[in-house]
Amino acid sequence: MRRRDFIARTIALSGIGAVALYARGMMGNGVIMSGRGMGSMGGVGLKNYKATNKLLIPPEIKGVLKNGIREYNLKLNSSHSGFLKGFKTATWGVNGSYLGPTIRLNVGEKVSLNWHNSLDEATTIHGHGMHLPAKMDGGAHQIIKAGTTWSAKYTVKQKACTNWYHPHIMNKTAEHVLMGLAGLIIIDDSESRALPLPKRYGVDDIPLVLQDRLFSKSGQFVYSKSMPTVMHGFKGDTLLVNGTIAPYFDAENGWVRLRILNGSNSRFYNLSTKEGIDMHVIASDNSFLEKPVAVDSVILSPAERVEVMLNLKDHKGEKIHLVDSNSGANILEVRVNKKSNSNVTLPSKLTTLDPIDTKKAVRTRKFELSVRGPGKLVINGESMDINKINFAIKKDEYEIWEIQSRGMMQMDHNFHMHGTHFRVISRNGKTPRAWERGYKDTVFIAPDDIVRVLVKHIDYSDSKNPFMYHCHILEHEDAGMMGQFVVV
Ligand code: C2O
Ligand code: CU
Ligand code: CU
Repeated sequence: MRRRDFIARTIALSGIGAVALYARGMMGNGVIMSGRGMGSMGGVGLKNYKATNKLLIPPEIKGVLKNGIREYNLKLNSSHSGFLKGFKTATWGVNGSYLGPTIRLNVGEKVSLNWHNSLDEATTIHGHGMHLPAKMDGGAHQIIKAGTTWSAKYTVKQKACTNWYHPHIMNKTAEHVLMGLAGLIIIDDSESRALPLPKRYGVDDIPLVLQDRLFSKSGQFVYSKSMPTVMHGFKGDTLLVNGTIAPYFDAENGWVRLRILNGSNSRFYNLSTKEGIDMHVIASDNSFLEKPVAVDSVILSPAERVEVMLNLKDHKGEKIHLVDSNSGANILEVRVNKKSNSNVTLPSKLTTLDPIDTKKAVRTRKFELSVRGPGKLVINGESMDINKINFAIKKDEYEIWEIQSRGMMQMDHNFHMHGTHFRVISRNGKTPRAWERGYKDTVFIAPDDIVRVLVKHIDYSDSKNPFMYHCHILEHEDAGMMGQFVVV
């Protein structure tokens, strides 16, 4: 299906259409998206289905060692998925019909991720959160034409964490992700293997990719790039977890580890359990936290990941619900109906991180995210220009990046940087939230917040191939809220 056909078809079939969506958005939340948490949910409310479908777990792929390089073969294809009974939804997937496998990488290994594009159009596949040379990044420049293969080859050089992959093609990232191209990358190292944490994938170590979608009467995804969608970001009324609507999960009555990715185009989640069970945060985007932190809730903006542990020991026979308090929707029903024999536990010490030493920073760079007019979103007054490198940063030099959302239209955004992780120094001068205390690559920027992060790029320099930084609300990114830098 060609691009224009896809959009025309989905709008024609939707029975809702962009105009109606806009009207709902205005009534629900006002034209201008504002405020923290709640405000970012504007537009479409989530339907609260009764949990009836077993949670799908994406298959894991561990690659094959060939001459010292671990190779992974990944095929992008268009297909159909059965989300709704009686309907076949046109979707895209990797080695399957919707989403893709969880790619397991080992620190220290040389890898080759071979992406074969069987779609009818070009795309790119970016390793979000990966520390790698810029030309292996899969950003806007590493185009994979229809029918060709592109290989990301690099050595895995970072701490154990949960990253992900998704398309990053100029102006079309939102639609390509929406169609289903995304998956997790789990990186293991000697430290993560030695910790007594849950590690049985899909049993007590559970991947959760959160997305929202809108379905037409004929069961197709609805998406339009109308002005309100560009400004507010796309919101669907149906939640998918790993591509499952209304999922339940059969759990053992022990510790479970949830690896949660906000894989939505623009929806922000405020995660908690309906039953008020403590969530022990153990990891942020790119590392473990030094120590677990118990919280009631976690706010996750698009592209952020968090790992949380829940103790289900005393909940045998109960149903525990992971919910989004922004929308009031159930995300996952955990049915504690199996006996645990494992001796996994929550360690008090998880890892050691580089200290946040702001005195080492050689400069402060400011980033203002704002709206310049209808559909024109900018950083420091400029829209993304693929032919322009916005600045260069020196390898091994620490910098402080100060990020804020400015201008007449007060909106929630977030900020993501490619190529390395950063540390959140402060949010409005205060200690960052629990889940912001490890290494991160994406940070929530609410209106009026001033977020300062400490950045350093190591190992790789390349004066020609840039990395990107942008708002990870995909409609904002596609509308220009992005820029490029090189590491020299
Ligand atoms: Cu997750 Cu520039 O991307
Ligand atoms: Cu990225
Ligand atoms: Cu934004």
